[in-house]
Amino acid sequence: MVTILVGGQWGDEGKGKIIDLLSENASMVIRSQGGNNAGHTVVNAGQEFRFHLIPSGISDRAHLIMPWHPILDKLEEEQRGDDRLGTTWRGIGPAYADKIRRIGFRAGDLLKPRFLEKKLGFVLSKIKNPILQELYHVAPLDPQAVLAEYTAYGERLGPHIKDIFPIVQDALARRDRVLLEGAQGSMLDLDFGTYPYVTSSSPTAGGALTGSGIPPTAVDLTMGVFKAYTTRVGYGPMPTELTDALGEQIREIGVEYGTTTGRPRRVGWFDAVVARYSVALNGIGSIALTKLDVLGEFDPIRICTGYLNKGELVSFPMSNISHLKHSEPVYETLSGWRSSIADVRRPEDLPKAARRYIDRLGELSGAPIDIVSVGPSRDQTIWMQGGPENLAVRQQQEGRARQR
Ligand code: GDP
Ligand code: IMO
Ligand code: MG
Repeated sequence: MVTILVGGQWGDEGKGKIIDLLSENASMVIRSQGGNNAGHTVVNAGQEFRFHLIPSGISDRAHLIMPWHPILDKLEEEQRGDDRLGTTWRGIGPAYADKIRRIGFRAGDLLKPRFLEKKLGFVLSKIKNPILQELYHVAPLDPQAVLAEYTAYGERLGPHIKDIFPIVQDALARRDRVLLEGAQGSMLDLDFGTYPYVTSSSPTAGGALTGSGIPPTAVDLTMGVFKAYTTRVGYGPMPTELTDALGEQIREIGVEYGTTTGRPRRVGWFDAVVARYSVALNGIGSIALTKLDVLGEFDPIRICTGYLNKGELVSFPMSNISHLKHSEPVYETLSGWRSSIADVRRPEDLPKAARRYIDRLGELSGAPIDIVSVGPSRDQTIWMQGGPENLAVRQQQEGRARQR
């Protein structure tokens, strides 16, 4: 039984909390893309954990961040000047570029010191150091020091590095519950996001499959996590952005500061154009809506239902980002509920206006909302259609429908 979990917006939707909830019933959790650019917060028994990558088991095919990647990430960003992307400086772009260029280092390489030495001799001495020195005029890296550092990682991590293909395939054959843990969000997707203001991986359902070696036919359900409003860290178009006091207020109440970099997140109303696009792009069959509690004080509340581009109504995020940047969001206005819902646990206890907002978001997005999150901790969760068991039934139905 395979569930893919993806972020439906620009990241930081609250995936960490939902993954923590769903992983209770999973026998295997796989991170199949991205890296330590991600920051996933899990609040458990009053303790807060901020995870970037959980080193529980490592595929020998996983690509490594090498010491030159963060250096080059930063240098490239500086060179872009005003057109910089606002990356996390973790080296993700350079590492993915090297993967595609076939000069990447994989976890399996750590277990082969002689091979590692030879490869460093080529990649570091012949490619990376000349770039550092001649292009950027910064100090080169010492291949022997890098070799010593990464060989030591190999010694420590060795027992956890495996070819995961047979392990995952066996789990599929047993119909074990496998959860694919997404990082980032669909609008940061390298192909379908707001290129070039994206990350360098594919945080979509498609990317989850290529990263894990799981075939599309094995997927039972794709769950999309959406925040009840929109946030974005870094640069690039965000049609519903609020740059006024209202935006500031939502940022403060929602504590919208980056988990990885501490940067203030840009904030705006829920963008149903983005949500509809994400649902279609990923085949989302179930939605987890997070941070609804944050909107408790706001009245009215707006939802973007379309964009006006040169007087024409557009119902999807256009690939041309300058058109997207200059398009005007069209809003629908709903009344707020002006009360705290942080202690609500059952759908019937939600204020009517909150219920209307949830229903409308589901309608506009095109997928049912199964989970509503009203606070960071595990118990601040409302199961809208009868709990985890019901989700499993939906999963089976979706899986069967697809196989037909
Ligand atoms: P992720 O990257 O998608 O895992 O999300 P982050 O962890 O970067 O950001 C989400 C933030 O919102 C974290 O600080 C969570 O603890 C918090 N959070 C998650 N769900 C809720 C919720 O329903 N209400 C509130 N108030 N906070 C939440
Ligand atoms: P989680 O998993 C939000 C953003 C960066 C930048 C762009 C490219 O916590 O949702 P990168 O370092 O990946 O090359 O930066 O992508 N970004 C994220 N934004 N949440 C994330 O992860 C992100 N990971 C990358 O801010 O705009
Ligand atoms: Mg995050």
